[in-house]
This record gives sequence, structure tokens and C-alpha cells, in this order.
Amino acid sequence: MFRVGIVGCGGIAQVHAAVLDRLEEARLAACADIVPERAAEMAERAGARAYGSLEEMLAAEKLDAVHLCTPHYLHAPMAEKAAEAGVAVLTEKPPAISREQWETLEKAAKKAPIGVCLQNRYNPNVQEARRLMESGAYGSVLGARAFVTWQRDASYYTDSPWRGAWATEGGSALINQAVHTLDLLVMLLGKPEAAAGSMSNRHLKNVIETEDTVEACLTLGGHPALFYASTAYAANAPVLLDIQMERAVLRLEGEEMEIRRAEGVERRTFSQPETLGKGYWGNGHFPCIRDFYRCLALGTPYPNRLETARDTVMLMLDLYDQGRKALESR
Ligand SMILES: NC(=O)c1ccc[n+]([C@@H]2O[C@H](COP(=O)([O-])OP(=O)(O)OC[C@H]3O[C@@H](n4cnc5c(N)ncnc54)[C@H](O)[C@@H]3O)[C@@H](O)[C@H]2O)c1
Repeated sequence: MFRVGIVGCGGIAQVHAAVLDRLEEARLAACADIVPERAAEMAERAGARAYGSLEEMLAAEKLDAVHLCTPHYLHAPMAEKAAEAGVAVLTEKPPAISREQWETLEKAAKKAPIGVCLQNRYNPNVQEARRLMESGAYGSVLGARAFVTWQRDASYYTDSPWRGAWATEGGSALINQAVHTLDLLVMLLGKPEAAAGSMSNRHLKNVIETEDTVEACLTLGGHPALFYASTAYAANAPVLLDIQMERAVLRLEGEEMEIRRAEGVERRTFSQPETLGKGYWGNGHFPCIRDFYRCLALGTPYPNRLETARDTVMLMLDLYDQGRKALESR
């Protein structure tokens, strides 16, 4: 059984710990946080040992893998340290907040396996959409559009001060909330070829320096794709993703799928067998983490290995290059 450590025992780490608790392949042996009570509380629940830092944990424990559940700017340097120690890494998204950090990760991935928690790739309706697109049942793909309209108020940022700052979060609505949907567009349509976008901050101007809204016109695998994400909405509405095909529109909304054709609309409901965390994020943490350990055990390539996130991360950084200046000159 793999011995696992979690670094950063805040919000999402609770989902990682709950998944590890249910897995036969791995168990939580250690956890680390700069806030001692957070590490202690998680350690006590799991029968694990608590540490004040990744470095202390790596020095004291013989671990097979670490999960990085820390603020964004720490993922790449922490992955580098763990890989240096020969420990496999499963990092929360985003894996990097800059191109320099991405290069660090690519080097680290030569020393130890690195996976990225992009759990929405495991959503059953996304997998079914992919199968239908590949089957050619509805002709070729013509394009896609995606909407992420969620709510993040001032307290979301003031409660965890690393959020809302370029240096520590690296952006907001895109890098934190909508990166999953951008990644699905890339996964389903293909390699980014062109991107023109803009960013704005419409409702939390005095709270965050980063964006709460991003829009972009993309070309992915030769197909046009429109992308809109904002955290200035009134609620966390289900993500909406339309794939326009020659003879149908595949509409993914939350866990549902509609196949819209001239003959009528077919509705299909999917759900994850194990749901942990908040549904609107995507419930795929369980299969995403389980698969990481199954691949590690078998020595097979993990579907969410670092290199599979490259196109999404580069596209995201490109959109920040375009959008950040307008926000900084406010
Ligand atoms: N995949 C998803 O759907 C999903 C959902 C939520 C959050 N996340 C990601 O998870 C990560 C954490 O987000 P969160 O909402 O849990 O944040 P959070 O602020 O609740 O937790 C972060 C934790 O990291 C700890 N920390 C900070 N610096 C540290 C250091 N140097 N060493 C050890 N611990 C340190 C903090 O004390 C805190 O407990 C982010 O990358 C976020 O994008 C992913």
C-alpha cells in the first residue's frame, strides 16, 4: 500500500484525505501545514503524523507520494522538492503560475511521476461526449462554447489571503475556477492554435488585484471555441459546455448531457459513483486520485500526467499575457 503525505491541510485537502480513506491502494501517513492545528487535526482523524512543512515531512517519513493542496505559487517548487526526494507528486491545479514554473515541473517530472488534479476529465458525461465525438455518430465537430458563472464574494478572498493576488494565486477566475473548463475544451477539441481574450474585474475591485471575469475566442484543433467565465454571478451555476457537431449539439450541463438534434432532444443523466467535495467543481476527485495510484502500481502512464496539462497551462498563460495588463493599469 502506498504511503502518502498531504501538504496544505485547508479546504480541498479534506477531499483528498477522504478519498485516501476510501482507497485500498494508498493511505494517508503524514500531513503538513504551516498552521499547526490544521495538520494536527487532519493527522488525528487519519491516524497519520503531523508536520509544519513539506521539508520536515520529507526528511522524517518514507513516502511514496505527496498531494500538493497548497496555494498556487507553491505547487511547482514543492513538486520539485518532492521529486528531488524521489517521491511521486499529485498536485492540485494549476500545476504552475508561470512559464518558468512550468519548466521547473518538466525537469522535476524526469525524476518522479507528476500528476495534476484535473478531476473533471473523469466526469462521466465528459467521457461520454468524448466517445460520441470520436465515434463520428453525429458527424464532425464544428466548434464549442463554454460558460462558467460562479459566485465568489469578498470573504472567499479575505479568508485565504493568498487568493486574489498575482504573486500567490497567479490570477483568479481563470486560473482557479475556470481552468477545469478550459482544460475540457482543449481535451475535447484539440491543440490550441489561436487565442484572443480579455479580462476584467467587475465586482471586487477593492478586494482583489486579479480578474473576476475572462472571455476568449479560441481556435482549438482547427475549431472555433468561445469561452466565458465569471465569478461575479449570484450563485454557483452548473458549468455549461456545448459541442456543436454537424448533426447534433452535445450539451453538457453539470452532470447532465443533452443530445440536441433536429428530431428532438435526448436527455441523459450521469453521476459519479463516489461523490466527494462540491458538485459544481466536478465530483471526479475519487476516480482521479484512485487512477493515479493504480497507474503508479502498474507502472502505466497516468492519464492526467503533467505533460497532458501542458496545452491548457500554456493557453491559460497566453490569456493572462493578454488580459493582465489591463487589470494592472487600472
Ligand atoms: N480541483 C478542484 O476542484 C479544487 C477545488 C478547490 C481547491 N483546489 C485547489 O487546491 C489548492 C488549495 O486550495 P484551498 O481552497 O484548499 O486553499 P486553502 O487556503 O483552504 O488551503 C491551503 C492550505 O495550505 C496551507 N499552506 C500555505 N502555505 C503552506 C506551506 N508553505 N506549507 C504547508 N502548507 C501551507 C495553508 O495554511 C492552508 O491550510 C489550490 O491550488 C486550489 O486551486 C482545487
